[in-house]
Amino acid sequence: MDEQSIDKRDLEKQNAAKGAVKFIQNNDIVGLGTGSTAFFAIQEIALLVKNGLKIKGVPTSEHTAALAVSLGIELLPMDQVRTIDITIDGADEFDAQLNLIKGGGGALFREKIIASLTKNEIIIADSGKLVTQLGKFKVPVEVVPLALNYVLQQLAELKGTGKVRMKDNTPFITDNHNIIVDADFGLIGDVAGLAERLNRIEGILAHGLFVNLTSKIIMGKGTETIIYAGN
Ligand code: 5RP
Repeated sequence: MDEQSIDKRDLEKQNAAKGAVKFIQNNDIVGLGTGSTAFFAIQEIALLVKNGLKIKGVPTSEHTAALAVSLGIELLPMDQVRTIDITIDGADEFDAQLNLIKGGGGALFREKIIASLTKNEIIIADSGKLVTQLGKFKVPVEVVPLALNYVLQQLAELKGTGKVRMKDNTPFITDNHNIIVDADFGLIGDVAGLAERLNRIEGILAHGLFVNLTSKIIMGKGTETIIYAGN
């Protein structure tokens, strides 16, 4: 990717973030996503808070928690909320039916719980994230380490090839002290079906297929934004 297209992607992310924060209302409980796109939303939220908006944030990762605190956003831990009014998060891939692959940053478990608690889950993305069929991006799967071999065998039964995610030559460890397996299923024909099968494998804490969790996706495209919304 050349420098110009990196700038273009960042502009699209930022425009999507600016569009999404307009849906936040005073006194909302707001889920705060993880990743380089969510970063722009957290910055926009911090600006609104500085200008008097009263919200409480629920972070999807330790990294996001630290960022939000550094920007003056008051937080609530996810185990202390029953519902979240609105969440703004990113995605690694999405399709026009609002199916997502998430977890490129390894925060998929908390992102999924927070999305499940959320009334209005808004995904923000640059235009490079839109696909006609999910699956080029490998599906992140958070695995309890003791179950690794079993999970790899079960993924193989589903015609998936799993690889343990590495960072600095050691397995990447999530905020929940587990490992991530990035699973390649090729292009995924039946996203909901695969998600269901992955749900049934013991030892998988969460997987990165998000189905029926998203209210709308705001995608930056050039200097415009395009909204994909459910029925
Ligand atoms: C983290 C995520 C992120 O939302 C996803 O990886 C997109 O990240 P970015 O906005 O940096 O492209 O799911 O677990």
